[in-house]
This record gives sequence, structure tokens and C-alpha cells, in this order.
Amino acid sequence: MVSTPAEVAQLRQQALAQVAKAQEADEVEALRVRYLGRKGSLTQILRTLKDLDPAVRREVGRLANEAKEALEAAVADRLKALKLAARAREAARIDVTLPGRRPPLGRLHPLTRIMAEICDIFLRLGFEAVEGPEVELDWYNFEALNIPPDHPARDMQDTFYFTDKVLLRTHTSPMQIRVMEKRRPPVRIIAPGRVYRRDSDMTHSPMFHQVEGLLVDRRVTFADLKGVLTEFVHQLFGPEVSLRFRPSYFPFTEPSAEIDIACVICRGEGCRVCKITGWLEVLGAGMVHPAVFEAVGYDPEEYTGFAFGLGVERFAMLKYGIDDIRLFYDNDLRFLRQF
Ligand code: PHE
Repeated sequence: MVSTPAEVAQLRQQALAQVAKAQEADEVEALRVRYLGRKGSLTQILRTLKDLDPAVRREVGRLANEAKEALEAAVADRLKALKLAARAREAARIDVTLPGRRPPLGRLHPLTRIMAEICDIFLRLGFEAVEGPEVELDWYNFEALNIPPDHPARDMQDTFYFTDKVLLRTHTSPMQIRVMEKRRPPVRIIAPGRVYRRDSDMTHSPMFHQVEGLLVDRRVTFADLKGVLTEFVHQLFGPEVSLRFRPSYFPFTEPSAEIDIACVICRGEGCRVCKITGWLEVLGAGMVHPAVFEAVGYDPEEYTGFAFGLGVERFAMLKYGIDDIRLFYDNDLRFLRQF
């Protein structure tokens, strides 16, 4: 039976030394049980203090309690150290000769690509790119473009309205007004961006992209319009692709035209994209209407100009041979990886 201060001190030293030497967590645990467990030797001393000679009881009690605390701390420290060492050994075992894992490579969305290509062509032709709001006022989207409140042309573009006067732009043409109200001619801009219409099927999406073009100066003619658009289509699809200018109607241009290109998918033979006609409508265009010039304070006697608007998705479908517009918005990686 341990009963002297010297014996307690010796027990403490022995226990600490054994813990310090232990190489496994199990070993440390066994030592803890041996000294501090319910039947452990230190526990035993503390429990039998009352049987000791009062002369040594105080001293033995103090030493035994100190030994218990020191041993508890030593056990916790040792366990922590063993755990760290085990983790370090694990790390050292990692096989650095294994082949690495390649991070997935991102790429530009086909719409982003075609948009950049389209803009590049016009930038090289001397146009400047500008951008404007998608939430637009009735004034810019309709009124200033010579489309008064009850004009039937408003039905052509089923509009998303926030209020009577605030809407999602149905085309990029409001940018014509926004630019002209701030600048004097000559004006030579393109305006790429998103537009919105209540429409959805294989060739229509409620959100799609357009690029607007506007050129205003003295003595601008329809021949200039024809030249610029022909050059554009030839740069994008190749000089062998033919264009067709069809008379059409827009309230903000006069005369107006729709431009078709020979279906680049079936080469004019007729397919589901061109609806068997061999032609695809890709552009609306025309000479800026005098009423539009008046809305922005330009003198229609002094200036003339042309404007055009093209549907970016249409061009992307033709360029990449895609026959369903919805593929652009599904974000199916099997589709997107092909570009
Ligand atoms: N804004 C017209 C549309 O979205 C296209 C257009 C633009 C027509 C400019 C003529 C001039 O259908």
C-alpha cells in the first residue's frame, strides 16, 4: 500500500514516463486506466487517504491530486501528438506519381461566340458598340419609334409590361433613340443585347438576343444599307451565300425590308429550319423614318440614315447547324461541349 509522499512522487514519475513512451493510442488508454481508472493506483491512493496517519495525510493528498492532474494532461497531450504523427505518416504515403485529375475546361457559350463574331465584323466596318437598358420606357420602345399607343404594330411584338409605361424591351431599336437624342450625326453604332417577347417554340424564345445597327449622315442611301449588310453576311457565312431583300413594313423605317439568306443548312433545298422555302429571314432593316428623326430633333431634310436589327440566335443556328433554339438555354453540357 502506497502511503508516503516519496512513494506518491515515484508513482507519478513512473506514470508520466510510461505515457511519454507510449507509441499507440491504445497503450495510452491502458495506462490511463491503470493509474486513473476506477481501480487505478492513483485513484486508490486518493480513496484511502482517510486511513492514513494524519501526519502524512495532507501531504500525500496534495501530491496525489497534483499527480492526477499532471497525468490527465500528459495523457491528453500524448494522444494529440500520436494523432498528428499518424496524420503526417498518412500524408507521406500519398502517391505523387498517380496521374492528376484535370479540372473541367470552360468554354464560351455558342451565343457569346457568335455575338462576338457579329460585333467584330461591324466594328471593323467602323461601327461603335453601345449598350442600354433591358427594362425600357414605352417612349423608347414604341412611341419615339413612330408606334403610337393604338398602333397595330404593337401586336407584332407581344410585350411583357411592368406598368403602362415600363416594359421589357421587345427589340434593340430603342437604342436608336437613346443614341440619337444624345449625339449629332454622323452616327454609326451597333447595339447588342437581350430582348423579350411572349413567344416560345422551336424557333422562338421569350428572351433572345438582337444586334441593332444605325447609321445616320448626309446622303446615306438604301445602296449603303445593301452594301453594309451584304458585306456583313459574306464575312460571316462566306462570299458564296446569296441574300434576298424583300419589301416589308416597320413603323420606324421607310422603305423597309426583310433580308433572307439562302438556307445554309440545306443549301436552298428545303429543310425544317427554313420551312421548306430554301430561305431564312435573318434581318429587318430600312431607311430611318422622318418621324423618328423628328422625335429626336434631327432635321429629316438634312440627314438620312439606315437601321437594321438582326436575331442573334438565328445566326447561331445557321452558323452551327442547330435546329432548335431551346438548346441554347438548356445548358446541357453534352450540347455545349461541342463548341
Ligand atoms: N426592331 C425590328 C424587329 O425587332 C427590326 C428592325 C430594326 C427593323 C431596325 C428595321 C430597322 O423586328
